[in-house]
Amino acid sequence: METATAKKTAPPFPKERHWLFGNATMLRNDAIGMVKSMIKGYGNIFSLSVPFNKVVIASNPEYARYVLQDNSKNYRKSLAYDLLRALLGLGLLTSEGDFWKQQRKLAQPAFHKRKLDEWTEMMVERSQHTADRIRKYADSGEAFDVLPTMTTLTLDIISKAIFSTGVEEKAKVVGDQITLLNEYTIRKLHTPFRLPDSFPTPFNIRQRKALEKLDNIVYEIIDHRRAEGVSKDDLLSMLIDAKDEETGEGMSNQQLRDEVMTIFIAGNETSSNALTWTLYLLSQNPDAEQKMLDEIDAKFNSGVELNYKTVGEFHYVRQVIEESMRVYPPVWTIGRRNLEDDEIGGYRIEKNTNVLIPIIYLHHSERFWEEPETFKPERFAPEKRNNIDRFVYFPFGGGPRMCIGNNFAMLEMEIILITLYREFIFKLKEGFKVEPEPLVTLRPKYGMMMKAVKR
Ligand code: HEM
Repeated sequence: METATAKKTAPPFPKERHWLFGNATMLRNDAIGMVKSMIKGYGNIFSLSVPFNKVVIASNPEYARYVLQDNSKNYRKSLAYDLLRALLGLGLLTSEGDFWKQQRKLAQPAFHKRKLDEWTEMMVERSQHTADRIRKYADSGEAFDVLPTMTTLTLDIISKAIFSTGVEEKAKVVGDQITLLNEYTIRKLHTPFRLPDSFPTPFNIRQRKALEKLDNIVYEIIDHRRAEGVSKDDLLSMLIDAKDEETGEGMSNQQLRDEVMTIFIAGNETSSNALTWTLYLLSQNPDAEQKMLDEIDAKFNSGVELNYKTVGEFHYVRQVIEESMRVYPPVWTIGRRNLEDDEIGGYRIEKNTNVLIPIIYLHHSERFWEEPETFKPERFAPEKRNNIDRFVYFPFGGGPRMCIGNNFAMLEMEIILITLYREFIFKLKEGFKVEPEPLVTLRPKYGMMMKAVKR
């Protein structure tokens, strides 16, 4: 007997599509523009025609809440995460089911408030170290790319928190490999007809080499810790010491590598992009910049020292970061696949459909935001913050798979902004072209050439 869901039709398919590649080419050329124009033409839920895959774009807070939270049991991660798995293995971001649940339980305590408190001092110190390095650019007036500067800093911070050691000297290698792998992953996603990773194509060889370089660094750190035989109060030791409740077995080096690599990458790529966009947005919005500087000056002039307790007093700094992630959400879309047939918005969602939730669209929708294209940190003032729906604004995702590092990221970004803007403001290099590029994360395509000006 047919069920009610089986009778429904699939969400509408747009007319604009290539006879062979469907919407794949349009997605590759201008994913954000295409989704925007399709939503205009076809509404909040529509299908895309992509070779070998069923894809639905669902851009409504109710659909987001349903897929990510209320009916999350029927959804696993989408196709894009299969590709990420080649890089991250079975870490928290890419694993599923009971295995994921167990790993999340193990990792969660490392992100508790007590740990964040301990990490604050280190974050302040590393941010100050970066400010010291920026000073030479401020002195010479030379423009520099703030994206790799932020990447080096966030890598340094995440590696200290996870491994109790910095990888600053290796940060350039790590940063370059992560950028490459990010590009490779999205290229694979946009290439419907491709050979398996094991085929020695030039592309696959380049990808394997980048991965090997990154693996070597991570394995070196794991081996070193195992050899030391001393447990430290960081995530790596927590993972090394964790034992399966039934078998008493610890994690293999491969499992450790997967978790470490996941947190390494998830915790760096997102925050460094968010910070870079924030510097850019502040440079374009002098009133907001001045308001933030006034707050920073007022706090320090009244004798406040930057620590875990006082960072929460910098309300406007936090608002600036939240608004920046509204305008440029580092994770611009989230995808899931349904295990069983489902129904969304009255349409049939056939089993194994990639349901994509375009966070960036919801963050810019006129339905929910006044003047959505304007940068207005005031939207996130403490008295207004609770009125914002958790699935209208959700840079950290939602439901059980929500970002485990959200508090870490907010703390880190606040400390970095406060430390840098205490000393400098940043101006975009004249004539520099800024363009968002929706890879796995939303990056500035050409980097971000800026000048640091001493205050
Ligand atoms: C601005 C910074 C960040 C943003 C915007 C961000 C965003 C996100 C989003 C949207 C997800 C959910 C993905 C999904 O549902 O499929 C996620 C998951 C995750 N994030 Fe973050 N993230 C940030 C920083 C961090 C940091 C600093 C860490 C680690 C220190 C981290 C570790 C993770 C992990 C491990 C997951 C997977 C969680 C799970 O599935 O259990 N993230 N992040």
